[in-house]
Amino acid sequence: MVIYSFAKVNLFLEIINKRPDNYHNLDTLFERISLCDKITLKPRRDKLIKIYCSDQSVPWDESNLCWQAAKLLQDKFGIAKGLDIKIIKRIPVGAGLGGGSSNAASVLAGLNKLWKLNLSKFKLAKLGAQLGSDVPFFIYAAPFALGQGRGEKICFLNKLDKVKLWHILVVPKIHVSTPRVYKKFDAFSRLTNPASNVKIIISKLAQKNPLFEPGLLFNSLEPVTLKLYPEVKRIKAKLAALGLRNILMSGSGGAVFSVVASGKEAARLTRRLKKEGVPWRVFAVSTV
Ligand code: C5P
Repeated sequence: MVIYSFAKVNLFLEIINKRPDNYHNLDTLFERISLCDKITLKPRRDKLIKIYCSDQSVPWDESNLCWQAAKLLQDKFGIAKGLDIKIIKRIPVGAGLGGGSSNAASVLAGLNKLWKLNLSKFKLAKLGAQLGSDVPFFIYAAPFALGQGRGEKICFLNKLDKVKLWHILVVPKIHVSTPRVYKKFDAFSRLTNPASNVKIIISKLAQKNPLFEPGLLFNSLEPVTLKLYPEVKRIKAKLAALGLRNILMSGSGGAVFSVVASGKEAARLTRRLKKEGVPWRVFAVSTV
């Protein structure tokens, strides 16, 4: 079984407060994007779960979220079969693009079919939330959704079903640690408040008005990551120098994206940055 496992960006991410379990409550607007990994699930004769990944920086052992997703279903439903999981990685790792969570969601959804478990998306999302806060969003396979709680409570935005945005996406060759960013966020004394709120962005999107006025896109974690990882700041400066306006870091970083007018524009900007030989990975992506 072959599954395409998509990445996400957060068009808006506001941290509301810190919780007793050390997670943070947030309001976030997820967008699923066309950048994807390819996952192949193949039954094994024995009960083992084996991971193979094209990217050496991804763990092949029990710490891999795909392994944990398969193990969760195997144990919970007493499945006597094992599995080979092959991951062709294109989504940069440790970049705030949700690659690991998306892969875990793909394995849960794939095994639901392969092992004929007949679990609803709601049930799969509930299981997925045990693996990571972003997993439920990917289970629902929606182009846009609102995430609340620690990001795992999903509100559907059906009125955005036909909206398609284009982005240039730039990813530094560094691995950003999400727990480190959240910890530093807690230590920050001065917090930035958003100039907008998530409802304003949703209503702009519903009007098919993809080029927001500057200041609408927001991420509470951005100032923290820019301080911890100056390379991310350099990417933001470079995109601003290209004349782009809606520039935002995704998740805890370090991927940075901008909303651009068309696919042609995204491709043109991507070509230009690559030609200049910037030391980052550059992609033209769209909502999917
Ligand atoms: O849920 P996930 O495994 O993706 O979270 C990784 C880390 O990010 C958590 O251990 C926590 O430190 C931080 N986090 C948080 N609040 C959230 C989501 C993640 O503090 N809402």
